[in-house]
Amino acid sequence: MRIRLDKYLADMGVGTRTEVRRLIGKGLVCVNGEKAGKAEQKIDSEKDGVSVNGNLLVYEEFEYYMLNKPAGIISASEDKREKIVVDLIGEAHRRDLFPVGRLDRDTEGLLLITNDGALAHQLLSPKKHVDKVYYARVRGRVTEDDVVFFSEGVDIGDEKKTLPAKLDILHSAEESEIELTIREGRFHQVKRMFEAVGKEVVYLKRIRMGKLVLDPSLEPGEYKKLGKDAIL
Ligand code: URA
Repeated sequence: MRIRLDKYLADMGVGTRTEVRRLIGKGLVCVNGEKAGKAEQKIDSEKDGVSVNGNLLVYEEFEYYMLNKPAGIISASEDKREKIVVDLIGEAHRRDLFPVGRLDRDTEGLLLITNDGALAHQLLSPKKHVDKVYYARVRGRVTEDDVVFFSEGVDIGDEKKTLPAKLDILHSAEESEIELTIREGRFHQVKRMFEAVGKEVVYLKRIRMGKLVLDPSLEPGEYKKLGKDAIL
């Protein structure tokens, strides 16, 4: 990909466009070993070697991170007052990262963070019906009737019923444990599906999205870098 030097540097998190122009002006940026002269200089991101202060950069158009979202953090890419999920990605270079879909503030688990809009669309488009699997603890005894009820789609107060969902009961008691597979991402969908059968989700964690499975070694708040082929 051919790209302007100032954009290349800003994309890699070296600084704002103004800051990187200043670095170029000070002679601190080299392209293929030669001092760069102009911010407009075109760079071949696959072939050219760009360094700042002697440190070679590796250009990445897209970045992908699997985050185990902790409770208490909002799934946003921008917020003036609150800490947000993208702030948890300490090694990120790109400034245009966003979470693929939203988890409620109190929901934990798998959240993909990227700047690849086309890939996000593939995972989120209602037409693609990508499976999302949640583990939940539910106040109330979850029964085989609920399994059948969920398999027929649930009226959660929207215009249309949900699509059929697969409910697996892991443990049925006063507080039950379940896994639920849904193919949409409606607002508070899992919580509202259980409300529809008179039960309350007391803990919710996403464990899979499409073929992407939450790495069990990631503690809440931890993340790992992924390649695109791990996702689609
Ligand atoms: N369903 C919910 O109710 N909450 C989430 O965060 C995700 C799915």
